[in-house]
Amino acid sequence: MQLVTLTGEPWADYGLIDCGNGRKLERYGDYRFIRPEPQAMWAPASDAWDAHGEFVPGSDEDGGGRWQYHQPTPREGWPLNWREVTFTAQNTPFRHLGFFPDMAPVWDWMRGKLDGAHAPECMNLFGYTGVGTLALSAAGANMVHVDASKKSVEAARNNAILSGMADRPIRWLVEDAGKFVAREVRRGRRYDGILLDPPKYGRGPGKEIWQLETGLPQLIADCRQLLDENSRFCFLTVYAVRMSALAIGELMRQHFADLGGTIECGELTVREEARGLLLPTAIFARWSR
Ligand SMILES: C[S@@+](CC[C@H](N)C(=O)[O-])C[C@H]1O[C@@H](n2cnc3c(N)ncnc32)[C@H](O)[C@@H]1O
Repeated sequence: MQLVTLTGEPWADYGLIDCGNGRKLERYGDYRFIRPEPQAMWAPASDAWDAHGEFVPGSDEDGGGRWQYHQPTPREGWPLNWREVTFTAQNTPFRHLGFFPDMAPVWDWMRGKLDGAHAPECMNLFGYTGVGTLALSAAGANMVHVDASKKSVEAARNNAILSGMADRPIRWLVEDAGKFVAREVRRGRRYDGILLDPPKYGRGPGKEIWQLETGLPQLIADCRQLLDENSRFCFLTVYAVRMSALAIGELMRQHFADLGGTIECGELTVREEARGLLLPTAIFARWSR
């Protein structure tokens, strides 16, 4: 299987300004932040970074740590735009800003795959604050947005309001992704496109345990059952797990082989503005027609 590099280019409201020495400097609208980035082992372009704040990690590699602010930053968040979508960026205790800018090329790719489709049915699993859901909705899709966290779904609905998309056909569901998909299979439902962005570890609303390595095979098998010969795409991203893109590519190939179309896998990257170098952020596998 051929490895593909999918690259996020800077846009008006987001850019990876510089990275190196285990950290990265990014701009989110008018605000700039420094965050840990263990893969940036090279030297940065500049050693004089001017930021509004920095996330200083704790001793625990997977969590802990806190934001330190050097200049005033709106604690309640501030609006950002990506194409037709408006959403709130906010410093979260999880070291990110409440959305994942490296997903932008994924949103564009999925929208391209929907070209010419009439009111396609799409699903966003582990949808978090909903930017992917709104990106697809703005392209004309009827959406099902699934996340285990009531708070995340509320934030996603608020982003729909901010985007002027509160009346779009979007079902906002606080559900366990695995259970919901299995139920959709039993109901004989079909979709034109599915986006899955599962965390390494999570909990459903009923305290169902989600563990990527053990849960993914069944979830991919079930997603396949929801797609048919007229479907357009299935896109899986995996972050922060010791796993090769080929592993998720082969998993997808096994389950999707009978569906025709193309399977690809590779790395999701963000282009640094200072020198154009590519910072890897996730691995992905995708099926499309
Ligand atoms: C932040 S997003 C995914 C981004 C990225 N993949 C990561 O690991 O950080 C993870 C989302 O999955 C949701 N989630 C976790 N376990 C879940 C489950 N069992 N069913 C549905 N959503 C779940 C969380 O509420 C969260 O919004």
